[in-house]
Amino acid sequence: VASSWRLSQLEHLFCDRAAFGARLADGDEVVYRVEDVDGPGRDAQLGRAVTTIEPGDVGGEFFMTRGHMHAVRRDEVYVGLSGEGVVLMTDGERGAAQELSAGASVHIPAGWAHRTVNVGATRLRFLAVYHRDAGADYEWVRRRGMGAVVVADGETYRIDASRKTAA
Ligand SMILES: [Fe+2]
Repeated sequence: VASSWRLSQLEHLFCDRAAFGARLADGDEVVYRVEDVDGPGRDAQLGRAVTTIEPGDVGGEFFMTRGHMHAVRRDEVYVGLSGEGVVLMTDGERGAAQELSAGASVHIPAGWAHRTVNVGATRLRFLAVYHRDAGADYEWVRRRGMGAVVVADGETYRIDASRKTAA
C-alpha cells in the first residue's frame, strides 16, 4: 500500500500563507509518500513502512510530514536510509528533536507525537518500524501543533520553538 501527499493537501502545515500560495502556483507537487513494506501476514505485530520526503520549503519552512500521535500508546523506531532529516517530537508539554540520516536511528517513545522534516537538499528516506495496532491520530497534531517549526538558516537549519504551526 502506498499513499502520497501533495502540497495542496498540506496547507495547514505551513505558517507563511503567501509563500505557500506562490509555491503551489508553480505546481501541486508531491511533498512526501509512504509505502508499506510487505510483511509476513495479518498476524504480524510489527509493520514496516518507507517514507520519502522531497527536498523543498515554503517560506523557509522545510517540507515535512503531517505528524501524528499514536491512537494507542505504542513506541516506534525510524532508521535513516538516505538524506538529512529532523524528527520533531512532543508529548504536549515537552519538545524534542533528533537528527535522522543514513545509518542513524531514532526511537519515538510511546505518548509522543512525531513529525519528520527534510532539512537537506536531497530526498529524505527512512524506514519506520511500528506496531500495527498503534493507529495514527493526525487531529492531535492539527489541533496542538508540534510546539516548534524547523526553518532554513543559511546552509543549515534552526528549530524555532517560538513559532507554532497553524492549528
Ligand atoms: Fe508513528
